[in-house]
Amino acid sequence: MHDISVIIPAAGSGSRMGGDVPKPFIKIAGLPVLSHTLRCFDYVDRIALVILAVSEGCKTLAQQAIESSGVKVPVKIVNGGAERLDSIRNALQHIAPGTSLIAVHDAVRPFVGRELLLRLIESAEKYGSSIPGLPVTDTIKQIDNDGLVISTPLRSSLRSVQTPQIFRTDILKSAYKHAALQGIRATDDASLVEYLGHEVKVIEGTPENIKLTYPEDLQKAAFILNNKI
Ligand code: CTP
Ligand code: MG
Repeated sequence: MHDISVIIPAAGSGSRMGGDVPKPFIKIAGLPVLSHTLRCFDYVDRIALVILAVSEGCKTLAQQAIESSGVKVPVKIVNGGAERLDSIRNALQHIAPGTSLIAVHDAVRPFVGRELLLRLIESAEKYGSSIPGLPVTDTIKQIDNDGLVISTPLRSSLRSVQTPQIFRTDILKSAYKHAALQGIRATDDASLVEYLGHEVKVIEGTPENIKLTYPEDLQKAAFILNNKI
């Protein structure tokens, strides 16, 4: 049964990272970040298709990253959009027929493990939507535009969330439709499902599933890779 489609948004410009090429195409340990990320999905049998949203100027780099990853799962390149949400909205048009679950995963999180993926799939089947999160270590303040504190949410109730975020196909499609109608823009896909009023289950993520955002994250990535081998 191949009933999972994976959407990988890879069309960002990487403004916080800087550098010559966008983050998915930076090499770590000799391979583009995107190749490492693709490999994470080659170990789950149920995946029918990976859909990669890429900006026009990076299509050749994306094709090279797919080839150097050596993955067996089919990968389809589609156009990215102005924001992450737009890239995913476009990729949603290309999911494989018969897809029951959709996983959305940032191209720039190259260390998602098989064990986390399997736990997320199981939980998405049970709850409809499942996302990984870690407890926060800092106290988090909600502030207003003047920097004045509005509230201090109880730390034990907070989670810093990651991708992959996995959803039943009907739920994610409805969430994107609803968001378009209501003009909702959000930084993760689960938020759109929350706006729809569906429950979203947060399960324990993994500390190595980092997102490469700033230049110093490349050092963290090298450290994680060296400790894996
Ligand atoms: N992304 C995308 N399309 C966009 C913007 C982002 O597909 N228009 C992707 C990025 O390529 C990345 C993921 O969404 O894999 C997470 O976004 P982020 O870490 O913010 O990456 P960038 O937007 O590239 O970085 P920055 O915000 O620093 O410019
Ligand atoms: Mg961004």
